[in-house]
Amino acid sequence: MTPEQARQRITSLREQINRHNHLYYILSAPVISDYDFDQLLKELEELEKQFPEYDDPLSPTKRVGGDITKEFKQIVHRYPMLSLGNTYSFEEVEDFDRRVRKVTGDKVTYVCELKYDGVAIGLTYQKGRLISAVTRGDGTRGDDVTANIKTIRSIPLVLSGNDYPEEFEIRGEIIMPRKSFDKLNEERIDVGDEPFANPRNAASGSIKLQDSSEVARRNLDCYLYYMPGESLAFSTHYQNMEKAREWGLKIPAYLELAHSVNDIFNFIDKWDQERKNLPFDIDGVVIKVNEYAQQHDLGYTAKSPRWAIAYKFKAEKVCTQLLSVSFQVGRTGAVTPVANLQPVQLAGTVVKRATLHNADIIQGLDLMLGDWVYVEKGGEIIPKIVGVALEKREALMQPVTFPERCPECQSSLQRKEGESAHYCPNEKGCPPQIKGKLEHFISRKAMNIDSLGEGKIEMLYDNQLVNSPADLYGLKEEHILGLEKSFRNGDGKTKKLSFKSKTVENILNGLAKSKNVPFERVLFALGIRYVGETVAKKLARHFSNIENIRTATYDELVNAEEIGDKIAESILAWFSDSDNLIMIEKLWQAGLQFENNATNEPVSDLLKGKSIVVSGVFSIYTRQQIENMVEEHGAKLAGSVSKKTDFIVAGENMGPSKLQKAQELGIPIINEKEFLEKLDL
Ligand code: IVH
Repeated sequence: MTPEQARQRITSLREQINRHNHLYYILSAPVISDYDFDQLLKELEELEKQFPEYDDPLSPTKRVGGDITKEFKQIVHRYPMLSLGNTYSFEEVEDFDRRVRKVTGDKVTYVCELKYDGVAIGLTYQKGRLISAVTRGDGTRGDDVTANIKTIRSIPLVLSGNDYPEEFEIRGEIIMPRKSFDKLNEERIDVGDEPFANPRNAASGSIKLQDSSEVARRNLDCYLYYMPGESLAFSTHYQNMEKAREWGLKIPAYLELAHSVNDIFNFIDKWDQERKNLPFDIDGVVIKVNEYAQQHDLGYTAKSPRWAIAYKFKAEKVCTQLLSVSFQVGRTGAVTPVANLQPVQLAGTVVKRATLHNADIIQGLDLMLGDWVYVEKGGEIIPKIVGVALEKREALMQPVTFPERCPECQSSLQRKEGESAHYCPNEKGCPPQIKGKLEHFISRKAMNIDSLGEGKIEMLYDNQLVNSPADLYGLKEEHILGLEKSFRNGDGKTKKLSFKSKTVENILNGLAKSKNVPFERVLFALGIRYVGETVAKKLARHFSNIENIRTATYDELVNAEEIGDKIAESILAWFSDSDNLIMIEKLWQAGLQFENNATNEPVSDLLKGKSIVVSGVFSIYTRQQIENMVEEHGAKLAGSVSKKTDFIVAGENMGPSKLQKAQELGIPIINEKEFLEKLDL
């Protein structure tokens, strides 16, 4: 094949694949089989490999991801990303209509749409090609998540037709369909990761992942609903949306024109009923004035347009019977009451359990065993009990009482003043607390030992092979090869787990690999109360090593950024326990990282040997990110300007004394862009 023939075939294949993607992911009307589609893709992949000169970052072969984003670039929105005013009643919708008509007069048309419960995104196309995808952020600037967004197959990378503006932005919502959400959570539970509370959180967690090939696996979808800007082809929102649909963009079909509040009410009623049949979550409907001229006359408040409003659905509620209450002990020893209910259908799923949070909630509801209770699904996966049907209460029912002893280890429960939770104080002997700490230790954001999960930890614990994280590093093949156990997973299915030689090898490799996990994550993994991911990072940066943290006084601790007295006291208490010190000693012996930078390998040595000062406020990255880059590329980050400073990276409002000193010493000052160019960014 000549290069010219290859170019033509590549172009043709890309067009065909894009068309089939559109048919499949937007119109839900595929015309070829998955197999034939894969053949086209394979052929394209091979040609692109053979003729790299025709590479295109927007080729459909790039949908599988692979790009890694270490830190998302901040991008300033050309038009601020506003939110919408919320209403919860028909009266408030009537008020909205009255306010609108006061400005527009009686001739007004509305567009009614669904309110997608996901994460807002702004897509910019230039000459019909996707050039950026930015999250809302603070409304003024958001994160550049383009690499991740490119993996969403319902977002066209290249538009069809030729009558789109030279450059335009279109906004919409990234959502995770319920089916993908259930599957993802099932997988997470299997490997011992915390499940996401709802599809919205899952979607927002997914688009912030660093590894785009992982995003590609999450099956996200995107509905587009708004084009900001003045130079649009038509004078109404509705027509422009129809036009955008012709370019291949996924404009939902669920939108209707309304000419009166009654039309709006009908739309709301219809979707309040129908929403459970949709494959994704919505949390209300959005009503927009259709004419741009009228939108313009109505204008904006500081936060939202006056020409649009969101009507939020009330949470769905059902009544069912309370069968019993179980008390669950978590990693921190907190005891959570969980209601076991007569199974009942609610918002698309069968509900069997509901959280009761704590003793105060039980008391507030004056709950009796056998009560008929109202169950509601808010934004969370686990529904809650919001009330009791007192009229159904019978004589001689038993009140629900909070146990005085731990249901797992029989220790007397404690309740600290000012706290609503009861705690089991037997931190070192209560099985769910021990297992919880081990699970936390191996979890992804901590030591990330993904060859171990909840089930395997339980087996190791039950066989008395591990009791503390340090024991994990003493495991040898002969201890664990051949262990077996059957257990029930979340949906009641029985699964068998056995440690075959491959499993054992993976576990031991995973443990060995974890010895390179940086100090800040080791610190987080220790599970010191209130030392979450961010606090661990701050502590690690401030104190550099575990010894400095162990010996820090209360005053030294609270002097560190973001460390308040609650955290300081918790750290002091943790290090005053000799068992914890023994554990650290053992983990240190095993080779874990207990000081900064030991393994923070530089990203490059482009700035090797340089001493650099960073000062001022930046526009693309935050100052912290610029400082990180300085170090990642091999330079020393200096706090003040001296003869030894090689150059200064200055943003806006650089400190005046630094500026003066730099001028005196003749030290070069470069701006953010010039700095990024040095790093080939
Ligand atoms: S229009 C200037 N339309 O809800 C108005 N927003 O609570 C731009 N949302 O920020 C927004 N569905 O993230 C619009 N059909 C829809 C929507 C929608 C969901 C989200 C969006 C918005 C938020 C406001």
